[in-house]
Amino acid sequence: MGRLGQRAVGDGIQRYNLTVMAILKVAHMGHPVLRKQAKALEPTEIRTPGFQKLVDDMIETMHEYAGIGLAGPQVHESLRLFIAGLEQADGSLKVLPFVNPEISPVGTALAEDWEGCLSIPDIRGKVVRPAEVVVRALDRRGKPFEMTLRGYPARVVQHETDHLDGILFFDRMKSFETLTFLEEYSRFWRERDTEDD
Ligand code: NI
Repeated sequence: MGRLGQRAVGDGIQRYNLTVMAILKVAHMGHPVLRKQAKALEPTEIRTPGFQKLVDDMIETMHEYAGIGLAGPQVHESLRLFIAGLEQADGSLKVLPFVNPEISPVGTALAEDWEGCLSIPDIRGKVVRPAEVVVRALDRRGKPFEMTLRGYPARVVQHETDHLDGILFFDRMKSFETLTFLEEYSRFWRERDTEDD
């Protein structure tokens, strides 16, 4: 965190350069950072230029790799933060950061659908998860918010919150029967336009 966004300039003064965004390196399965419990953020940390740049860079990185979600540990930052693209009723995508998220299922209904992960490239598998959840988190200014999600957005926030606890979607699969390479997924199984998350 300390080095984020800080650049030395010629006159020796440390300045923040917030206009330059960066595409971050994504950790792949097997990297220990993906199995660690990520650390919660303090309100004072959320308001730093370094954290704000991390949020912008994660949004940039998620778009670069055509993901629909990206969690801190996936970019080697073991912090309780993720970015998610939530499909709206009109089909548009709303991209939001979630800081220190807490998820509670609503009711007992479960749903099964395909998942992918930028940390497990070119693989898909079906995962069963609660169909509807309430997510409580802080926004990028540290302000609490709450939303109820169902369908694919509910799945995305659960997948991303799992990353903060060192859990990958393979761990949630009841069976590996649906484990599928992307090429075969596209040939035989594609039911919807999915993206990595
Ligand atoms: Ni993932």
